[in-house]
Amino acid sequence: MAGVSSQKRLAVFCSGSGSNFEALAKAGRRGRLGTRIVVMVCDRPDAFAVVRANRYGIPAALLEPKAFGSREAHERAIVEMLKKFRVDLVALAGYMRIVGAQILRAYPGKILNIHPSLLPSFKGAHAVRDALEYGVKITGVSVHLATEELDGGPVILQEAVRVLPADTEESLLKRIHAVEHKIYPEAVRLLARGIKVKGRVIKTK
Ligand code: GRF
Repeated sequence: MAGVSSQKRLAVFCSGSGSNFEALAKAGRRGRLGTRIVVMVCDRPDAFAVVRANRYGIPAALLEPKAFGSREAHERAIVEMLKKFRVDLVALAGYMRIVGAQILRAYPGKILNIHPSLLPSFKGAHAVRDALEYGVKITGVSVHLATEELDGGPVILQEAVRVLPADTEESLLKRIHAVEHKIYPEAVRLLARGIKVKGRVIKTK
């Protein structure tokens, strides 16, 4: 149909600062995302990500879990909202909730997550601190498909970040963020173009 874009429609989920959301929005503006961000989904009213969404003119859908009777009801509402926005793909960007079966089933193989370590090392909420405390000399960033296993889905992109002797959590996180902002748009573009998943291995086009 004339005038209707064939571009895939992306939702970005955030709970906090939203710097990755902004990196995706920026890439989108430059036509480098291969998708269009149609909504930012947020579970916290005070998240700075909401301010960023407003700046980019992207609708922010706030769905606070406490407004729903159960996790299932919360997820059902999210899926309904995603359908309303005709979302094709999802990028989790600092979304601090476990994405459950309802959402995963609605978007199988279509949900990306970004994690600040070289998976499968240092899963969980304190990956940067854990890597520093472990004493690894190289850590990094992983973008993977979200599955029922937390931080355990097939990896689509990874990049290493060197740990420097004088690093603090803050200084290391700063360099990790810089890499995240570079590779997340790239991973979204790859997913939008189409991937093949064989076991744990993702092949991109
Ligand atoms: C990022 O470090 C990401 O890897 C992790 O949560 C953080 C989100 O940061 N999942 P921001 O909200 O995008 O600034």
